[in-house]
Amino acid sequence: MGSLAGKSALVTGAGRGLGRACALLLARGGARVVVGDIDEAGGEETARLIRDAGTEAVFVRADIARAADVQAMVQRAVESFGGLDCAINNAARFIKPKPLAEISEEDWVASTSVNVTGTFLCMKHEIEAMLERGGGSIVNIGSGRETTGEKGLSWYLGAKQAIYGMTKCAALEYGGKGIRINAVAPGPMWTPALRETAAQNPGHVEARQAHVPLGRIAEPEEVAEAAVWLCSPAAGYVTGTTLSADGGYTLI
Ligand SMILES: NC(=O)c1ccc[n+]([C@@H]2O[C@H](COP(=O)([O-])OP(=O)(O)OC[C@H]3O[C@@H](n4cnc5c(N)ncnc54)[C@H](O)[C@@H]3O)[C@@H](O)[C@H]2O)c1
Repeated sequence: MGSLAGKSALVTGAGRGLGRACALLLARGGARVVVGDIDEAGGEETARLIRDAGTEAVFVRADIARAADVQAMVQRAVESFGGLDCAINNAARFIKPKPLAEISEEDWVASTSVNVTGTFLCMKHEIEAMLERGGGSIVNIGSGRETTGEKGLSWYLGAKQAIYGMTKCAALEYGGKGIRINAVAPGPMWTPALRETAAQNPGHVEARQAHVPLGRIAEPEEVAEAAVWLCSPAAGYVTGTTLSADGGYTLI
């Protein structure tokens, strides 16, 4: 996939799930990694796993909904590793699925402040650091295709579709400055978030799985491959795209 050796990378929500898988895979490619999360135990564990495998990593406790936290997280990458080359904006906040008119304003703000504003804040400060560096690659984690909907998920797919829109506009704005910006649209993955949902909703996993042409739920490492490839020099001519890594989920 081209060398990530010595690159400076940042992953949000890297304390578990897809974020951890991305951080570990970036490190396996030789990148030094800032592990961002609000979960200190999970984030420290990811950083330890990377260091134990022989690569540099630092955990930064950062709530992506808070501009000061995001600024400090990006600054840490610049100070620790000399700049920022790659970022995977993965953190998301989940609320209970509900029809739109039943979503409280409080839940709407709580989820969108992370899923939309948080992703915006990350992109904003990452782009500033990458402009200083003379280029870089950002990957935003979405869900589902731009055109799909699902009952109960207006707060979630609405946010993800905002992410696809921000990805495309920013790719246009910063392509000429050497910054590539793409999104990955995962299908269902065996992350702690899915396991928690499955525990509360019997039949949830079976229903998802029945919808996947490949016939199984992904391991997060399989989706991390797509995100890390987009970060890598091998994807040097790819920008503004959404890469589905969903086992064909959104074909049906
Ligand atoms: N699991 C799936 O089936 C699935 C499917 C499609 C898309 N996705 C997307 O993949 C991404 C990762 O999902 P996951 O399943 O690994 O989730 P997860 O809940 O297992 O992990 C998310 C991580 O983000 C962190 N986080 C939450 N709020 C944060 C905040 N404000 N600031 C910083 N960190 C925060 C959590 O502490 C956690 O470590 C999300 O963007 C999600 O929407 C997941």
